[in-house]
Amino acid sequence: MAKPGGLRNYGSRARQKLAQEASGAPASDSTEAWRELRTFPAEQTIPMPDVTLQGRVGPAPAFHDVALTTMGRMNMAGLRPEHDVLDIGCGVGRTARYLCDYLDSTAHYEGFDIMDEMVAWCQSEITPLFPNFHFRLTPLFNTAYKPDPSLPSASTFRFPYPDESFDFAFAHSVFTHLPPEATGNYLSEINRVLRPGGISYSTWFLFEDEPSSSPKTIVTEMKLDASGMFAVHNPDVPDNAVAYRESFILQEYSTRGLTVVGPIHHGFKRLQDAVVAVK
Ligand SMILES: C[S@@+](CC[C@H](N)C(=O)[O-])C[C@H]1O[C@@H](n2cnc3c(N)ncnc32)[C@H](O)[C@@H]1O
Repeated sequence: MAKPGGLRNYGSRARQKLAQEASGAPASDSTEAWRELRTFPAEQTIPMPDVTLQGRVGPAPAFHDVALTTMGRMNMAGLRPEHDVLDIGCGVGRTARYLCDYLDSTAHYEGFDIMDEMVAWCQSEITPLFPNFHFRLTPLFNTAYKPDPSLPSASTFRFPYPDESFDFAFAHSVFTHLPPEATGNYLSEINRVLRPGGISYSTWFLFEDEPSSSPKTIVTEMKLDASGMFAVHNPDVPDNAVAYRESFILQEYSTRGLTVVGPIHHGFKRLQDAVVAVK
């Protein structure tokens, strides 16, 4: 049973430290000691991509917040340090840099993306430090990221990995940039490359009745397609931002052989909706 005095003292060290900081006196704990306590110390050993590259995957000031939120959500989804992991649309390694700390050195990480400069950055800055992390360029047509119609379509793309080679496959903020045919194909490919019992984690913009009733501003501004199953922010560049009807996506998971587990983790503010499924 806790003593009343003990409860009164709760937080006293933290209060003392805050008071010291406010008075300008040096705190008893050095910056170095705090650094050692970091959950992701190796992340700091990887250089930061420049602000332009950071901005290709979202607002640069939120770069770390987004990655840490993803790490927490993926851990809750069942990600484990020994897992072989696939990062679909890995971008400039925003999540990979935290996975470098999280995954065992015997676990394999594979990331692919359609953007040359982001993949090249990961290959030159991350792989030499973490040789179990591999990045691959897979140029594909995308109206927002690669508006080159001579490139192959994502709707028929086969992920460049053998069947049943991963325990965990994730796509953070990628299905929010894919049209329905590509989305269906990517769910099938996730199913193909996952081992039996493997976990899929993906984020989406989902809506139920109308996009206008979404709590997310970006979705409320979207125009519903005639099919009623998806909506886009800019019809001229549809892959800029795509939202899907939730029931349509749940049906797609089922059709592609993936079983959605647990409730959908609806995001708040700018945070996307997360869907977890198992093979
Ligand atoms: C918003 S960024 C997110 C990047 C990364 N997942 C992250 O969270 O930092 C979207 C990414 O999807 C990539 N992308 C777009 N179409 C793709 C496709 N068909 N296959 C793989 N990646 C794609 C883009 O190049 C870009 O890196």
